Amino acid sequence: MPMQQRTPSRLIIVGAGGFGREVYDWACAAAAAGADWTVEGFLDDNSSALEGFPMPAGILGSAATYEPQADERFVCAIGEPCIKLQIARGLQARGAQFTNVIHPTALVGRQNRLGVGLILCPYSVITTNVTVGDFVTLNLHGTIGHDAVIGDGCTLNNHTDVTGWVTLGEGVFLGSHASVLPHARVGDYARIGAGSTVLRSVKPQTTVIGVPGQRLRMFDPPDRRAG
Ligand SMILES: CC(C)(COP(=O)(O)OP(=O)(O)OC[C@H]1O[C@@H](n2cnc3c(N)ncnc32)[C@H](O)[C@@H]1OP(=O)(O)O)[C@@H](O)C(=O)NCCC(=O)NCCS
Repeated sequence: MPMQQRTPSRLIIVGAGGFGREVYDWACAAAAAGADWTVEGFLDDNSSALEGFPMPAGILGSAATYEPQADERFVCAIGEPCIKLQIARGLQARGAQFTNVIHPTALVGRQNRLGVGLILCPYSVITTNVTVGDFVTLNLHGTIGHDAVIGDGCTLNNHTDVTGWVTLGEGVFLGSHASVLPHARVGDYARIGAGSTVLRSVKPQTTVIGVPGQRLRMFDPPDRRAG
């Protein structure tokens, strides 16, 4: 019997903002390195989000109304964890199949449990025995150390350092260059400021800044039912 050629799926990036445009490039690099999709375009509520930014792909519609097709795969390039989870889970409930965009320079050990809808940007590292939930973003040069547990929807920005045995709850946001020291626990929807260091624990929905991290205020996540 002749070998059947498999048609690649079409990847759709949810969010056409600055990060979405970066993810477009990372996804093209992943496709060139063998990922089984081609990069199709973006979903964004703002149909003019790409105006002024020359891109080879356009906006296909809004995430709120888009009807996912069987040959499409999705990834959510939105930084704010609540909004990311709300949109990604809404699409998933309508049948969207999420995939992982892993840049060829990302280093991922062999003994990790990874969810779906991940974005692993250039030079990011996940070492060993790490559990990563769904819709987690690890931006440029971010690292997750051994035995860490990362909840759904976390956004770990550039150069973040999640060390060994750390637990991040759902929807945690780490600003650029934030560090979380070994065994520390960060509660759901907490935000750690850029350049800040968490020593022990952070309560859910709090914003922490500084070295060592001090509570700035409670954080009221954007309404997850809205939009
Ligand atoms: C921590 C953070 C979320 C707080 O945002 P916010 O609630 O809007 O807070 P504000 O900007 O009103 O700042 C409140 C105070 O905290 C201070 N502050 C804010 N972020 C800080 C940080 N990372 N380190 C030290 N101090 C900080 C501000 O100077 C301000 O101090 P003041 O009241 O004495 O003037 C935000 O400042 C931050 O660090 N975000 C990370 C951004 C990032 O890395 N993005 C990456 C993707 S581009």
